[in-house]
Amino acid sequence: MERLQKVLAHAGVASRRAAEQMILDGKVQVNNTVVKELGVKVDPEKDVILVNGKPITKEQKRTFMFFKPLGVITAMSDPEGRRTVADFFEDVPERVYPVGRLDYNTDGLLIMTNDGEIAKRMMHPRYEMKKTYSLVTRGIPKEEELDRLRAGIRLEDGVTAPAEIEVIYRDRVKEEAKIEITIHEGRNRQVRRMFERIGYPVKRLRRIQIGFLTLKAMRKGQYRDLTDREMTRLLEELGMSNKG
Ligand code: URA
Repeated sequence: MERLQKVLAHAGVASRRAAEQMILDGKVQVNNTVVKELGVKVDPEKDVILVNGKPITKEQKRTFMFFKPLGVITAMSDPEGRRTVADFFEDVPERVYPVGRLDYNTDGLLIMTNDGEIAKRMMHPRYEMKKTYSLVTRGIPKEEELDRLRAGIRLEDGVTAPAEIEVIYRDRVKEEAKIEITIHEGRNRQVRRMFERIGYPVKRLRRIQIGFLTLKAMRKGQYRDLTDREMTRLLEELGMSNKG
């Protein structure tokens, strides 16, 4: 449920302030009743909303890929005044929000959408969205140690599911390794905790892929709509295409 003036603003009827005035002026009806007070909440999916007797068009569904930079929190507002993902989407009229989260000190791919069903399914274990992270460890883990992560390792909140891990390079001079890991789960700080557990703290962490969507060719702070092809494929993978 959302405030009526907000729904009107998102439908492109008017700014939120002007929408409030329209409500006070008695120009807005919800389910055949004129609403003249502010603060009434409506369900934009179900309620029939008329402005000057005409139905409003629903907020267009949009889904974006976003390259979240470091030092940005995955939230729409922050009481401590840190930069949030919302700051990057000020020019997008639809109210998109993040699907899942990415730590403040992790950068990389984040999906932003206003489609509740897409968000719900992408987070659901049943659809097993694979997430790939590129990271640099302090110290160089041996294959046997990585095998413990591949098999699943016990953390405070239980044993992790099997993971795919590939070493990109081992740098004996800097005493670090660059590694790519693919997991299906999304527990809090999972990748960092997994590597901490085997004694190799993560120095840098970036999410480079979610499902088939990759960060390729994107710049930090940039966002773009999914292409029609990407959208079709995503809906298919989430069991939401009308092809079934
Ligand atoms: N794992 C982490 O440790 N941090 C993230 O932001 C995502 C996965």
